[in-house]
Parts: sequence; structure tokens; C-alpha cells
Amino acid sequence: MWPYPRMLAHRGGGTLAPENTLAGVKRGMAAGFRAIEYDVMLARDGVPVVLHDPLLGRTVAAPGSVTDYDALALATLDAGSWFGPEYAGEPVPLFAEFAQYCKAHGVWMNIELKPAPGFDAATGTTVARMTSALFADALAAGERGRVPLLSSFSEAALQAARAAAPRLPRALLVDALPPDWRERAAGLGVVALHVDHLALTAAQAADVKAAGLGLFCYTVNDPARARELLGWGVDAFCTDRIDLIGPDFR
Ligand code: G3P
Ligand code: MG
Repeated sequence: MWPYPRMLAHRGGGTLAPENTLAGVKRGMAAGFRAIEYDVMLARDGVPVVLHDPLLGRTVAAPGSVTDYDALALATLDAGSWFGPEYAGEPVPLFAEFAQYCKAHGVWMNIELKPAPGFDAATGTTVARMTSALFADALAAGERGRVPLLSSFSEAALQAARAAAPRLPRALLVDALPPDWRERAAGLGVVALHVDHLALTAAQAADVKAAGLGLFCYTVNDPARARELLGWGVDAFCTDRIDLIGPDFR
């Protein structure tokens, strides 16, 4: 059974605030969300930051890539101006602080491991270790619904996360379900598959559920489609449109 919230704000606050920032989380919380998806990768010094693109420039006002900077330097860069002047100076979050904030405010996390090229295993290891330390209390108490879910397109990152923190749940992210999804899921020991809803069929959804796996979809922005997916047995999804699809959507 899916022990987590069903509606997640994608990248913190969907498209109503700059993605992967604390301002985004606060925007999601203002809309009633207590569950988010966000992206994490390692900076040059191996310290994880909350960021979607390894190549800076789209959301972060600086040249180069994430691995050209130490994390504390990234945390001084502006990740908000691209979205609007009122967000000028909104920093690239350090993962440790961001996750701590979410935990303290009861915001459940789907942490997407989004390694910069070549950093797959290191990202899985570091983020899994830090997450399991932060949630040692919930893990010890067996409070499954509070513990974050790590997900990734990178199987190397998932394997490394498994080795570093075997008790942390993981999910495999895919665009379309590959033909060998059962074997891959079993080999990785994941609890769920995270699928692009545009590539999912009702029959596939039924198969995944029948296999005893969780089924999560990204990124669902149309309420009619959201309703259809829930009707197929999809457990949860993330949305950019937190204004159209609220935390209690049915
Ligand atoms: O985790 C689901 C979704 O976030 C995957 O795509 O590019 O938005 O990280 P992306
Ligand atoms: Mg993501």
C-alpha cells in the first residue's frame, strides 16, 4: 500500500514559484501541500544541492555547470530572478538545509537523485546517507509514511543509495515502462515505478499494481487527466499546477 500523500507539488511549488527553491516550498505550503518532489545533485565538493539542470543559466544566474562550484558558492547564486523580480536573490538551496526545513514543517519528500554526468554513484551514496541520518527517528520508529522516497532515472545512483542506506525506500523513474520493468524493479529492490503519464496505459497501470509496486506519475497538470489516472489505480503524482490540482484532489 502507498503510505505517502497522493498529490505532490513538482519541484517544490510547481510553476507558481521558482523551481527547487525554499520559496517554492513555501508557495506549495500556502496552497496546502505537505508533499513535494524535488531534484538533488552534487556540487564540486561533493555536497548536495537542490537543482534540476547540471548546466547553469536557465534558473541560476551564473555560467558553467554545477561541478564548477562548491556548494557554498552555489548557495550565494540567484536562482529566483529568472522567475520574477520579487524572487531576486532566492538562493540555490543546500540539500541538508532544505530537507531539514521540510522535515521540520511536515512536508513529505520525494527526493529525485539527479546526478551531474559521471556522479551517479556518489550522488546516490551521499544523499541516501544524509537522508537516512536525518530520518533516523522515523526509520527506527517504523513510521514509513514520514520517510522520504528516493527516486532516479539513474540505476547506478539507486544501487549506490541501496548500498549506503538499505532501509530507505527507492523508486525507479522511467519515461515509458520498459518491457523488462519487473526484472529491473526486482533487481534494484525498488518499492515503486515513477512513469511519465503521457506514456502510460490503463493496462500497464493495472499490471504494475498487480505486481505489488507503487505507481507514481509525473507531471500531471490537467484535472481531467489526473482523475483518469487515479481511476486507473495510479497511487500518486506530482503537478506543476498546484492552483488547479490541490492536495486533496480526488
Ligand atoms: O520526478 C519526476 C519528475 O520530476 C521527473 O522529471 O525533469 O521534472 O525532474 P524532471
Ligand atoms: Mg524531478
